[in-house]
Amino acid sequence: MKKFITFSMILLLLAGVISGCVAQAAEEESAITMRLAHNQGETHPVHKSLVEFARLVEEKTDGSIKIKLYPNGQVGSEREAIELTQTGAIDIAKVSSSTLENFSKVYSLFSLPYLFDSQDHYYQAMNSDIAKEIYQMTSDIGFSGLTFYDSGTRNFYTDNVEITHPDDLRGLKIRVQPSPTSIKMVELMGGSPTPMPYGEVYTSLQQGVIDGTENNETALTDSNHGEVAKEYSYSEHAMVPDILIMNNSKWDQLSTKQKNAITEAAEESTAFHKVVWEQAVEDAIEGAKEKGVNFSTPDKQPFMDAVQPLHDEFAEKKETAKYYKEIRKLVEEE
Ligand code: GCU
Repeated sequence: MKKFITFSMILLLLAGVISGCVAQAAEEESAITMRLAHNQGETHPVHKSLVEFARLVEEKTDGSIKIKLYPNGQVGSEREAIELTQTGAIDIAKVSSSTLENFSKVYSLFSLPYLFDSQDHYYQAMNSDIAKEIYQMTSDIGFSGLTFYDSGTRNFYTDNVEITHPDDLRGLKIRVQPSPTSIKMVELMGGSPTPMPYGEVYTSLQQGVIDGTENNETALTDSNHGEVAKEYSYSEHAMVPDILIMNNSKWDQLSTKQKNAITEAAEESTAFHKVVWEQAVEDAIEGAKEKGVNFSTPDKQPFMDAVQPLHDEFAEKKETAKYYKEIRKLVEEE
């Protein structure tokens, strides 16, 4: 009898071990791997923040969601990354809100020059329900926003012309993001806007196809623009956030626990990014100076005056009026 019990116990134990293995295998099989694309290199701060996002998602979902990153524009331009997210060919993309303007007019708001008065104002707006509402405005075209990442202030830089006043932009071909608002901005300031995807900017600067462009300081080092553009002028004309977008049908397939994990991971990676970003900008300025880039600070007022018609238009346009007023009101309330 004793022997028999021992034997059954061994059998039970074995059965337990086997079923445990089978269950684990089944769980591993059902683990989802999501694809996340963006157009910056692996040394760029936003890549680090996306790696952190992926780590947090995996941790918070006990490994049931893994995220594979496709940096360096491997899936194409930002426009293509958005289209792939829309169809579900990829699940998540980090893109500039300027590129999103081509998919929903509401995003034109973030390309509006001098929308934000300061970094505090920017964070206040981006962390508010206004931004959360905007993230949902593309839900009918297949994707929604999850969070934003600081992409600093955008400033003009050229091969060798210091931009001290909008008049200095006259006759210069300035690359802008493929965004109607950015095109209009450079036109109003007096330059010749040349929209093109980010991946083409370095070669275009090098070959003289464009005289200059506008971006944050990390473009000088991480994308090597500082090798060919030597005059960087702090016009601080825009603070254009990067947005993390996700395919809606993929989202709908997730459990509540997984959805919460992604939402939390997105928010936490934005806070992580704020710290990484500030350090990256300091390092980029140092690195660019070593490459011989000259930094200057023009009077911003003439640049602001030049784009006033855009503010008037945004305060009226049906797609932007409500959000424009809400965001501007945040400063007036201070
Ligand atoms: C920023 C932004 C990118 C964007 C780039 C551009 O670097 O983070 O997402 O592609 O500007 O100017 O195109």
